[in-house]
Amino acid sequence: MKILAVESSCDETAAAVIENGRKILSNVISSQIEIHAKYGGVIPEIAARSHIESIIPAVDHALREANTKLENIDAIATVKGPGLIGSLLIGSLTAQTIAKIKNLPLIGVNHVFAHPFANFLTTNPPKFPFLSLIVSGGHTQLMLFEKNLDYKILGSTQDDAAGEAFDKVAKLIGLSYPGGPAISKISSKGDKNAFKFPHAKLKNPLDFSFSGLKTAVLRQVLELTGEKNAGLKKSYNLKPKVATDIATSFEKNITDNLVQKTLLAKQKYKPKSIVVGGGVAANPQLRKKMAKAINEVHFVEPKLCTDNAAMIGALAYQMAKLDKFIDPNSLEIDSSLETL
Ligand code: KG4
Ligand code: ZN
Repeated sequence: MKILAVESSCDETAAAVIENGRKILSNVISSQIEIHAKYGGVIPEIAARSHIESIIPAVDHALREANTKLENIDAIATVKGPGLIGSLLIGSLTAQTIAKIKNLPLIGVNHVFAHPFANFLTTNPPKFPFLSLIVSGGHTQLMLFEKNLDYKILGSTQDDAAGEAFDKVAKLIGLSYPGGPAISKISSKGDKNAFKFPHAKLKNPLDFSFSGLKTAVLRQVLELTGEKNAGLKKSYNLKPKVATDIATSFEKNITDNLVQKTLLAKQKYKPKSIVVGGGVAANPQLRKKMAKAINEVHFVEPKLCTDNAAMIGALAYQMAKLDKFIDPNSLEIDSSLETL
């Protein structure tokens, strides 16, 4: 079964062709990072306009790279949420239109849930039921997936997502957007014990909270610079060595936290496999620490951790096996979708 998948929930326009949920025939990603970097974050209107320009070329490119044609595609998959509403619209309208014109079955996929399914696109796929730590720019949650795609959300962030914390702290200490890659680029040169930042104590130990950590970094920066509090939107002027030590201490704190909670969930739920997905899963420190704590943990290559359409095709295949198709006329996008 060949699935053509499209993804346009945030700032990447992507299309991929996936065979039998396991093999990537093509995986095209047109990133808008450079466009948004000068604003220090994603501007929704610019993202939507940029998707309009890129979506058809991306689909075309994905078909060509897969050496196939729409006539040989068995189903179309698109993201129905969560994400930026204008961005979601472009991908879903494209997929709905292709499905209608070519009379193809359509699958509407939850973008966040799709992240861990990128791990099926490897030679060593996870086994159900699997535990998944999803760490992206907008979401942080621990989930359990059963073979029939029944799922349980074991814990989720009460405030900022892990990627969001990376982005905000990076901005604070003068690094560029997106903050995660910027922090992980310099963190190997810093002292991880230079600054002690707190871990949040929560009623459900599998929930997450990073806003206290972010505020602690802000307080530390204000103390070091003697500047007035102008909030998290401003970059403060720090000596490069100090900024590097803050980045490294912050990264240690957040990655320790993510590993501890995943370990706790593993002990409690005893899954057959454990996978980590989402943009923050590209972080080398997190990968190293998690692999040390849980040696059987699954990670995909960084390109499949950040947003892509291949992961949408991978989850869509599992949904197709369960006949979870949707009428193209009744596909509804939902910017804060929380269900499959
Ligand atoms: O999954 P993703 O590509 O998009 C969303 O669905 O949000 O995740 C983007 C997030 C950004 O916050 C970015 O800073 C973070 O992933 N990220 C990283 C790294 N690469 C991307 N965070 C930490 N270390 C990285 N190497
Ligand atoms: Zn994502």
